[in-house]
Amino acid sequence: MPHANDTLPPPPFKIKMIEPIQLTTVAERKEYLKVAGYNIFNIPAEKVYIDLLTDSGTSAMSDYQWSGLMLGDESYAQCRNFFNLETVVKDITGFKFVIPTHQGRSAENLVCYALNLDKTKSAVSNQFFDTTRANIESVGAKAHDLVIPEAYNTLIHHDFKGNMDTEALEKLLTQKSNIVVIIVTVTNNTGGGQPVSLKNIVTVSKIAKKYDIPFFLDAARFAENAYFIKLREKEYSDLTPKEIAQKMFSYTDGCMMSAKKDGLVNIGGFIALNNEKTYTRIKERMVITEGFPTYGGLAGRDLEALARGLTEVLSEDYLKYRYQQLQYLGNKLEKANIPILLPVGGHSINLDALRFLPHIPQSLFPGWALTIALYENYGIRSVELGSVMFAYQKEDNTWVYPELELVRLAIPRRVYSREHLDYVCHSIIELYKLKEQIKGLKMTHDPGLLRHFNAIFEPIAK
Ligand code: F0G
Repeated sequence: MPHANDTLPPPPFKIKMIEPIQLTTVAERKEYLKVAGYNIFNIPAEKVYIDLLTDSGTSAMSDYQWSGLMLGDESYAQCRNFFNLETVVKDITGFKFVIPTHQGRSAENLVCYALNLDKTKSAVSNQFFDTTRANIESVGAKAHDLVIPEAYNTLIHHDFKGNMDTEALEKLLTQKSNIVVIIVTVTNNTGGGQPVSLKNIVTVSKIAKKYDIPFFLDAARFAENAYFIKLREKEYSDLTPKEIAQKMFSYTDGCMMSAKKDGLVNIGGFIALNNEKTYTRIKERMVITEGFPTYGGLAGRDLEALARGLTEVLSEDYLKYRYQQLQYLGNKLEKANIPILLPVGGHSINLDALRFLPHIPQSLFPGWALTIALYENYGIRSVELGSVMFAYQKEDNTWVYPELELVRLAIPRRVYSREHLDYVCHSIIELYKLKEQIKGLKMTHDPGLLRHFNAIFEPIAK
C-alpha cells in the first residue's frame, strides 16, 4: 500500500489571504465548555484554535473561484451560472439531468420524496451518513447499512474498507422486496472516510440491475474516492482522477452531492440523474422547499464557485497533496502508538476512543469525553462519531451502542498548514499520556433525532 513518509511536500498553492486565529487559555476554555453544556457544537468558533469539527463547507476557495463570484448572474430563472454548473456536472457524471440544491441533506430529502419512501419501504447503503439516515427514517422507512465487516475493526488494514458487503446485499434483496434504492457513500464518512473500490461499485451495479433497483452514489467525496482507486486498484492507475470519477458514476443511475466537501465551496449541493420521471418529481417538489430548479436555494455566484470548484478538485496535484496531508498526520500518530482507525481515510483521522479511553464505558460516552478533553486542553475541536451520535434505545428501553466509538479530526481542504497539523499531533500525543485523567459524561438533555447537535452534558466525578 502506498505510504507517504515523514515529510510533507509543499502544497500546490500559495497563500493570498489570511484569517487570524487565536489560542485561548485552558481556564477560559473550561468556562466556555461549561456555558456550552459540554457540547462542542455550542462553542463559538472564534474560541476554537484549530477547527477539525468538519471538512464540510470549510474549504478555502481559490482565486479562480472567488473571481467567479463576481460573475454571478442573479436572475431568478435560467441564470448563466446554472448552465456552467450543468456543463461541468454532466461532464463528470455523464447524467442527463442536473438539479442544484442548497446542500447535501436537501438533495437527500428530495430524492427520498421522489422515490416515494414511506414506512412500507427500505433503503440500503454501505453506510448511510447521519442526515441521509435521518431523511429516510423521518418518513418511517428503514435504512440498512451493509458495509463489509472489516469496516468495524479499526486495526485491520483493507484498501477499500468502505466497500459494500455485496453477498449480504444479494441476501437482503432476496429476502426483502421493499428496497427502493441502493446508495453507496463515497468515501464512507461514517466509517472514517474509507474508499469504495470501482470493482465493488461494478458489482453493486450488477446486483441493482438484476433486481431493478435504482443505484445512487452519495458523492460528497467522490474525487478523494477516485484518487484512492488510482492508487490502490492497479488496473486504473493510468487513468486521471477525472476519468476514474467518470467511470464511478457511469455504473450508477444518479447521485446526490453535498458540494461542501469535494465541491470546494462553503455552501451547495446537487442531484444528478438519468430517470426523467424522478427528475420531474424532484423539479416539481423543490419549488416548494428549495427554489426554482435552476438555482436550488443558491445564489448565482454560489453556482459559479461550485462549477469552478468541481473542476479544481479533480486536479491530480491537488488530490495528491490532500492524500499526503492526511497520511502525514496519520503516520505520525500511528508511529507514536496513538490508537487510530487504520488505514487513514480520505478526509479525516479518527481516534479510536474505545482504545484511547478503555476506562470509560460507552454509557458514559468516551468519544464525547475525548472531544471535550482535546478542546479543553488544546483548543482543538473534533467531533464524536460514537455513542452520542449513533446509540439507540430498543423497545425494552435497553441501549444499543455502536461498534465503533470514533473521534473524527476532519481536515478542511486547503486551510491548515503542516505546522497546524504538527500542533494537533503533539497535542494528541501529550493527551494520550494523561488519558487516565479524562472522565466520562452524563447526558442531562437528550433531544432524540440527531441528538449530538443539541444534547447537554455534565462531567461525572471520577
Ligand atoms: N453525505 C455525506 C457522506 C456527508 O458527509 C454529509 C455531510 C452529507 C451527506 C450531508 O450534506 O451537510 O451538505 O447537508 N457531512 C458533514 C460532515 C456534515 O461533517 O461530515 P450537507
